[in-house]
Amino acid sequence: MTEKVSGAVITRLPRYYRYLGELLEEGIDRISSRELSERMKVTASQIRQDLNNFGGFGQQGYGYNVRNLYDEIGKILGIGLTQNMIVIGAGHLGQAIANYANYGKRGFVIKALFDINPDLAGYSVNGAPVYPLSRLEEYLGENDVKIAAICIPKTHSGEVAKRLVAGGIKAIWNFSHLDLDVPEDIIVENVHLSESLMKLSYKLNYKSEK
Ligand code: NAI
Repeated sequence: MTEKVSGAVITRLPRYYRYLGELLEEGIDRISSRELSERMKVTASQIRQDLNNFGGFGQQGYGYNVRNLYDEIGKILGIGLTQNMIVIGAGHLGQAIANYANYGKRGFVIKALFDINPDLAGYSVNGAPVYPLSRLEEYLGENDVKIAAICIPKTHSGEVAKRLVAGGIKAIWNFSHLDLDVPEDIIVENVHLSESLMKLSYKLNYKSEK
């Protein structure tokens, strides 16, 4: 793999991975960049360019071996390794995340949720126990967890992020509406559904003006 792959390419990889997984489910083991381009609505040259970053994987006149490409992209994305996760906040969003079964297939295992609401202690979501937030440090000290999803109001997320980092968390999947102030070596992926909806709304308005 080349040293530095652009953020835009990395952003597209999960989509390639998803389409290739669908092809495998359909029993398709070989595909040309043109066919893949038609399915994905991305130009064939974009596909070739993107995949060239990782040494190509394609063969002239043969196309791509779907299984190889799927496995290689999976390796690049760290899929297949088991990645333990915790979720902070066991409300609507935290529970929806814990209930989404597909992460397990990709190696992401939600081990526990943490919440300040004492009424939730003793519950479990999709097999993962809900613990009081006061047990966070003890839990992180005893378990191998590198990823935490933050699903709590922004008034508390800054302080919780500091505790997560101090406890050894290396990557934060941040759903709270706060830009987290964490050390540079901590990876943060912000997810904001409302921003995505605003983008949709912008496109809709722009289209209706034309
Ligand atoms: P909710 O009210 O159903 O759940 C919030 C949960 O967080 C509650 O169980 C509460 O007890 C817990 N909590 C509050 N402070 C805490 C703390 N310091 N430590 C641990 N747990 C704590 O709310 P919902 O719908 O689950 O949303 C949670 C947050 O996520 C909201 O602030 C909302 O703005 C944000 N959100 C973000 C979205 C996104 O796309 N980024 C989408 C939906 C919600």
